[in-house]
Amino acid sequence: MKNNQKTPRGPQTTAIHAGEPERFRKSAPVGIDICRTSSFTFASTQEMKRWAEGKSKAWIYTRYGNPTLDVAEKKIAALEGAEDCVVTASGMAAISSALLGVLKAGDEVISTAQLYGGTFRLMRDILPRFGIGVRQVGTDLAGLEKQLTPQVRALYVESPTNPTLRLVDLRKAADFARKHKLVSIIDNTFASPVLQQPVKMGFDLVVHSATKYLNGHTDLIAGAVAGKASLVHKARNMVICLGGSMDPEAAYMLIRGMKTLGVRVERQCANAMAVAKFLEKHPKVARVHYPGLAAHPDHKLAKSQMSGFGSMMAIDLKGGLPAARRFCDRVRLFLLAASLGGVESLVVLPLFTSHYNMSKEELSRSGVGPGTVRVSVGLEDVADLIADLRQALA
Ligand SMILES: Cc1ncc(COP(=O)(O)O)c(C=O)c1O
Repeated sequence: MKNNQKTPRGPQTTAIHAGEPERFRKSAPVGIDICRTSSFTFASTQEMKRWAEGKSKAWIYTRYGNPTLDVAEKKIAALEGAEDCVVTASGMAAISSALLGVLKAGDEVISTAQLYGGTFRLMRDILPRFGIGVRQVGTDLAGLEKQLTPQVRALYVESPTNPTLRLVDLRKAADFARKHKLVSIIDNTFASPVLQQPVKMGFDLVVHSATKYLNGHTDLIAGAVAGKASLVHKARNMVICLGGSMDPEAAYMLIRGMKTLGVRVERQCANAMAVAKFLEKHPKVARVHYPGLAAHPDHKLAKSQMSGFGSMMAIDLKGGLPAARRFCDRVRLFLLAASLGGVESLVVLPLFTSHYNMSKEELSRSGVGPGTVRVSVGLEDVADLIADLRQALA
């Protein structure tokens, strides 16, 4: 549903209040109702007819929309500064619906080669089966112009990238897309709208794995597409037709999780900076990929387009895969689990999770080495986190 918020507010106020029903001077619940239904009654056959003709916005069936989903959609649209949003059953449902909404057989998309593994496999294995070509560029966008053909319709980027935290110059990418009439799409999962609002930098669509920071509690799979109303409309049609709709219970969990988004991200960023500084000095760590460190190749860019450096990082251990496995098997407070962005700190080997089923070349282009460990820093006390890392590396 459209974002009707008029007064600009801070991200934490927005996360708590945007999209919620008016309650001032009313006897009304403060909490959000879960509209647990698949179907809605029509007032009359006349209303049914009006709905079929596109003249009525009545709720009819939850796959098409539902009041609880509507709250989540308005909240995310407001957080992203977007005109509209559609929530989905997963981040991959959001990504595939956004892409299929704007591409058809014969079209091409230019994408960063560095992507979350699921998105990479969608681009490599699925889109070409439906006649959609994929062209790749690096996160530095070198050679972008050379990839442009008359068939290219969209530019898809991820920034920061999963798992090695490289950044794309978002203003440059959006300007290029606008100049060449391409739809620009960004996966904003790693930054969250608290740290980066790509719509304000010129992006048409923003996709999220809402499973991550937006929810924040590692108990939900969810996604969202936000951006220009006309393009969100196309993504929504895909969600409705392909069936990647969100369930109202999940929407409630997402709304509840988003209420603390601002404070979670702020504290996670502070924890991550301390963890990154500790790891950077550790003799067994070859490299820390964290945009908050001055040594990171995109540190300057991060300062220019993000309001914080996030709580995701990757480390390369000196002993390669055996050292990375030993480290992951030894941590006690950090949990060995996929996913990220939640209150619990997690470690994972991208080689065996998000980046499974990739060739050596594909892995090396993604910056994933055998000793690469992805680290998601949560909300625990930072001294405890560092103590755990110290003992696991000892
Ligand atoms: C950056 C990024 N985008 C998209 C996804 C896919 O999201 P989901 O697992 O919610 O489908 C992930 C999952 O890890 C991710 O890390």
